Amino acid sequence: MKQRILVALDIGTNSLKMAIAKIKEDGGLEILGVVEEPSSGVRKSVVVRPEETAKRIASLVRKAEQMTSVHIKEVIVSLGGSRLFAVSSHGLVAVSRADGDISKEDVDRVLQAAQTFSLSQNQEILEAYPTQYVVDGEEGIREPIGMKAVRLETDVIAVCLFSPDLKNLTAAVLEANLEIAGVVPSPLAAAYGMLSAQEKEMGVAVVELGAGTTSLAVFEEEDLKHIAILPVGAENITHDIAIGLRIEHDLAERIKTEFGTCLGSKGKRMEKIELANGETFTFSSKFVGHIIEERVKEIFQLLNKELKKLGKQGQLPGGVVICGGGAKLPKIAEFAKKELKLPVKIGSAKGLITLQEDPAFLGVLGLLVGNLQDEESTSVTQKSSRTAGFLKKLLKSFIP
Ligand SMILES: Nc1ncnc2c1ncn2[C@@H]1O[C@H](COP(=O)(O)OP(=O)(O)OP(=O)(O)O)[C@@H](O)[C@H]1O
Ligand SMILES: [Mg+2]
Repeated sequence: MKQRILVALDIGTNSLKMAIAKIKEDGGLEILGVVEEPSSGVRKSVVVRPEETAKRIASLVRKAEQMTSVHIKEVIVSLGGSRLFAVSSHGLVAVSRADGDISKEDVDRVLQAAQTFSLSQNQEILEAYPTQYVVDGEEGIREPIGMKAVRLETDVIAVCLFSPDLKNLTAAVLEANLEIAGVVPSPLAAAYGMLSAQEKEMGVAVVELGAGTTSLAVFEEEDLKHIAILPVGAENITHDIAIGLRIEHDLAERIKTEFGTCLGSKGKRMEKIELANGETFTFSSKFVGHIIEERVKEIFQLLNKELKKLGKQGQLPGGVVICGGGAKLPKIAEFAKKELKLPVKIGSAKGLITLQEDPAFLGVLGLLVGNLQDEESTSVTQKSSRTAGFLKKLLKSFIP
């Protein structure tokens, strides 16, 4: 039997990440390799110069192929950037069959009806995720197919994007001679990589602290409730340190990753760091701690605002799960707990055996996990009404 391979690509502000997995006979995933390449042509998680990004993708593919001996043709890719946004919408249709049995076609039609709201010219819907169906006024239905009714309604969270962002992402991937198996909103990828069904049922938020962006996905009663991406991330901390200490970016990045910590403004030691030319640079760890705390506090305050909009500030029993490169900042979970007034933990890959324990890779691994779950829901019923496709299959017409 032909081996089934899945390849995921996460285009980040700081780095591009790829994960290659084999689908095992028992249906599980075996990670064959995870590779990373510095990013180029990407600003705040959005491809702005596709030709540059394409070169880095091609180089990433070479690395991945060398590592795994797999020929890579097709990738599942995530789309991020602060122009991604969620819209809550409602759809209503009359059930078409004379006997009143709700069919897959009715579900497709009601999902379509829920996506007929107006967007500005350069915006489009990436995917609509149903949160419930309403069957003749009966709310909270998850599986309407086969039920009898006159009227079928649905509530969806539609994830929308700025069309040129998708166009540039697609151009970069195609230019690197890859085909696109599907596009996933990046906050969802991270969530699929980490969350248990129980956490999603209880109510949980996933926060991915990337370099240029911080993303939020909120789930409740197993369903997606909200998505937001803030245009601020761990790279802003580096900038702040560079400005605060009047030093170059690379030195600031070293200070952040080697000495940085949240809750670090209490210390008062002077620290020394050796420079490439053999000299040493001395700085106050208390001052650096203060700079980091101010920026991280700002990020959590913005996240709190998003939670407040949902009425979920301090109100998520499943707590907050953090990932992304910024999650490596020591004491970030303790800091977040204080700021968000919620239980907080650093995420880990759900049900995957991988040597890659780095939280920065949970997004790309989640692309694989989500895709597998999507494939698993093979029954037409489930696919059409519950998952509605983790993966957005790109229309062929979109590809030049
Ligand atoms: N120990 C650490 N402390 C603080 N920040 C860290 C640490 N290690 C890595 N980072 C930061 O994590 C960021 C990279 O994270 P990640 O790979 O998740 O970002 P990205 O995917 O490239 O960006 P984005 O998702 O925003 O487009 C960098 O800003 C890096 O400085
Ligand atoms: Mg990222």
